Amino acid sequence: MRKSILEFQKQNPKIVAVTAYDATFASLVDAWVDIVLVGDSLGMVVQGKQTTLEVTMAEMIYHTQCVHRGLHTAHLVSDMPFLSFQISMEDTILNAGRLIQAGAQSVKVEGAGEALCETIRRMIEVGIPVMGHIGMTPQSVHRWGGFKVQGKEVSRRKELIDQAKALEAAGVYALVLESMPLDLAREITEQLSIPTIGVGAGPYCDGQVLVLYDILGMFQNFKPKFVKQYLNGSAVVQEVIQQYAREVKAGEFPLKEHSYGEVKT
Ligand code: KIV
Repeated sequence: MRKSILEFQKQNPKIVAVTAYDATFASLVDAWVDIVLVGDSLGMVVQGKQTTLEVTMAEMIYHTQCVHRGLHTAHLVSDMPFLSFQISMEDTILNAGRLIQAGAQSVKVEGAGEALCETIRRMIEVGIPVMGHIGMTPQSVHRWGGFKVQGKEVSRRKELIDQAKALEAAGVYALVLESMPLDLAREITEQLSIPTIGVGAGPYCDGQVLVLYDILGMFQNFKPKFVKQYLNGSAVVQEVIQQYAREVKAGEFPLKEHSYGEVKT
């Protein structure tokens, strides 16, 4: 049985979340995490794009279906991609519903504001739980002028605190806080009764989420300050592939033991 949103309360131990984009990795992380996020970060880490802005509903549905097949216990939340929840209420409900039909148990939306709060209330009314996401929201990268830490200035800090409270009042069951000073994340966390889930937001949130490929160290040239690489994955993959290539060229693989027996005629 998969975890429902009812299990995500302010708690100790903390909520552990990670992204996944396919069934194989989903099945590997399933037993150890509370939440698996099919993040639109897939546009960058899977598709190799510069931002998340080009990710489509069709792609989110496809990856949600893949992850759904690999999960048994963790909660599955899927990102609503750019423009999938801003055009009209009808489109939004339909798009969120398609992610639920693909296997998600809840959806995540980036941003804040009265219009979005109204949209969130409507999604919840039709039975779709919603996770919020504020701070350095990647879908607004051009607004922020890059992937920059948010909430350093007093006015922006106050804005983020107000946004967090408004999203809680609209009914989100948890709130992702991305790339902000740790004391701001702490203040927001203390003021909310729903759990906060940090990414680049320090140790005082109620949970943590990271992009799986970052944890595995799959990128050599890109490591944000807030990421801890638990594996030098890019080096491991390259060593293994080099060995495989060497053995094939040298005739050391495959051997008879890797082959099917001859048919006696
Ligand atoms: O798309 C994503 O992976 C995310 C997380 C970093 C929170 O939104």
